[in-house]
Amino acid sequence: MSNAENRLNDFDPNDSKGQEVKKFIQEHKNIKGGLIPVLHKIQDVYGYLPKETLNTVSDSMNIPLTEIYGVASFYSYFSLTPKGKHVIRVCLGTACYVKNSQAIIDEIGRELGITVGQTTSDGKFTLEATRCLGACGLSPVMMIDDKVFGRLVKDDVPKILSEFN
Ligand code: FES
Repeated sequence: MSNAENRLNDFDPNDSKGQEVKKFIQEHKNIKGGLIPVLHKIQDVYGYLPKETLNTVSDSMNIPLTEIYGVASFYSYFSLTPKGKHVIRVCLGTACYVKNSQAIIDEIGRELGITVGQTTSDGKFTLEATRCLGACGLSPVMMIDDKVFGRLVKDDVPKILSEFN
């Protein structure tokens, strides 16, 4: 058995997430351009890109780890660290920025005790700043998971956060 196959067998047979990722890697490892779909799959399954899984991808797809990290850090969709249960994305696009979305970020940061890019210690929230969310008419805008909140003022923040468990 090759080293690459051995690495794929590191996935615990009783771990359904691992098996889902393993199957996807097997199906894509010989496809040109297969790396990005594989990274998407891993991100979707685990919510981030675990280091050990990237090592397995490198071995089984015969792609240098440095190249994989290069791709992973280029696209903001990918995360190399686990995200919180809820991801807050506050828009810093032009329309939102001029309506002071920074004040919303500051208020969330104050409420949760984190800054942009961080996750609360209980793993509940991750705070991110993002580009235009395509809802400029509602600026300033933020999303929590797939829910959109518009025309925000900073006093809205505590109540909105309290809606998420
Ligand atoms: S700039 Fe914020 S939604 Fe467009």
